[in-house]
Amino acid sequence: MKKGEVIELFVDYNLYPNVGVGIVDGKRVRVKGALRGQRVRCRLSKKRGDRIEARLIDVAEPASDEQPSFCEHYEVCGGCMLQTFSAETQLAHKVDMVNRLFENAGLESRVTEAIESPEVFEYRNKMEFSFGDMEKGGAMTLGMHRKGHHHDVVTVDHCHLVDADYRLILERTLDFFTALEVPKYNKFSHGGILRHLVVRKAKATGEIMVALSATTQHTEDGKSIDRYLAGFLEMLLGLEPELSGKLTSIMQIKNDGLGDVVAGETVVLHGRDYIEEMLSGLRFKITLYSFFQTNTLGAEKLYEAAIGRISDFEGKVCFDLFSGTGTIGQILALNGASHVVGVELVEDAVRSARENAAFNGLSNCEFIAGDVFKVLSGMDEALLPDVIVLDPPRAGVGENAVRKVASYGVEEIVYVSCNPKTLTEDLRIFEQLGYHAGDVTAVDMFPWAGHVETVVKLQRRNP
Ligand SMILES: C[S@@+](CC[C@H](N)C(=O)[O-])C[C@H]1O[C@@H](n2cnc3c(N)ncnc32)[C@H](O)[C@@H]1O
Repeated sequence: MKKGEVIELFVDYNLYPNVGVGIVDGKRVRVKGALRGQRVRCRLSKKRGDRIEARLIDVAEPASDEQPSFCEHYEVCGGCMLQTFSAETQLAHKVDMVNRLFENAGLESRVTEAIESPEVFEYRNKMEFSFGDMEKGGAMTLGMHRKGHHHDVVTVDHCHLVDADYRLILERTLDFFTALEVPKYNKFSHGGILRHLVVRKAKATGEIMVALSATTQHTEDGKSIDRYLAGFLEMLLGLEPELSGKLTSIMQIKNDGLGDVVAGETVVLHGRDYIEEMLSGLRFKITLYSFFQTNTLGAEKLYEAAIGRISDFEGKVCFDLFSGTGTIGQILALNGASHVVGVELVEDAVRSARENAAFNGLSNCEFIAGDVFKVLSGMDEALLPDVIVLDPPRAGVGENAVRKVASYGVEEIVYVSCNPKTLTEDLRIFEQLGYHAGDVTAVDMFPWAGHVETVVKLQRRNP
């Protein structure tokens, strides 16, 4: 096999989240984007020792259990890579990938329970769309990045992960700015105006937040976002009779940063700066920048699975680390924990968590803003936890914080993870520090996408 050579390959299995692996001439070849069971054509791109990589050209033969895709955007959109399987098969596929990660990490734990998402379509409560185009100088588009082309954007006005309100807001926003010839932002020249459209809609209350991320600069022909905001607002509010939800929060984001991220000072154009959602019997305020699980009904299942793993938290002190808007901690507080301490980096989320706790009449919770490791290191040593729940971001907990958490010596730690790769890395450190990882529960929070949430309980070994 030589670099540049085109080969045909049967994909035996996948490595999390989207690397297909097949054997050619007795050697393992990795192909990003190829799915197990497919026969694919690919071009060898890297050969270093035993590591051989190839670039997917096309699928010569689909897997025997594949079916036609349900989405109009399938060929071009980069999301929903598993949509040609049934809902059950795509979850089983994710379980297989998680199990392989554990096996490769030398950990005994395996997935023993896979919980389906209560909804497999229109389950998302948040979407971040980007303004862009499909080809240089082409018509403006608004949506998601094109499969394999990070700089192109596909208008996803038929996306099945969100409900009709999102699709209408997306379509009319694009029509509005296209008709007025407002230019999109250019990531290379940094000129232009329109960058992102964030839409959030609460499942239980139907409250909708729309946030337009745009630069504040003037173009050469004197255009700036200020000139269009009143018209944009009027257009959105004019959609109300067609929406099933209610426009509760409309915001402008002054986004002049160089990175392609939604960030910047916000200005409320209509209503308030948050929406309210109900989850597990509690009410939560969600602001633009605070983390909130994107599948509300799936999150209830996830939290049930996590909290169900704790043998006993009644009357106990619980630490909710990486607490976001304080969801897990407040469910613990509502159900009998004596005291809850939440730690979260984003101050906005901490503010929401405090307000949420007060709103829900919970006086036995406190939320501290800061990095988990630093906050725990500087905390009053008299405040010791009985139970710890960890729910870190994709990067995982990290060695310093794992060591700090383990140093409390609590009997049980529950680890909720959105990235099984970093989970296995953290679990290996916990194992060295005397904690045994038990069975894994997978919760399908992102049907059709390659990702999956997992929950594992760590039990302290007897010294
Ligand atoms: C996966 S979210 C979990 C949030 C919450 N448990 C929930 O279910 O809504 C991870 C959270 O960790 C926060 N975070 C990231 N790095 C952190 C750090 N070093 N210290 C504290 N919080 C951090 C993020 O802002 C985010 O809110």
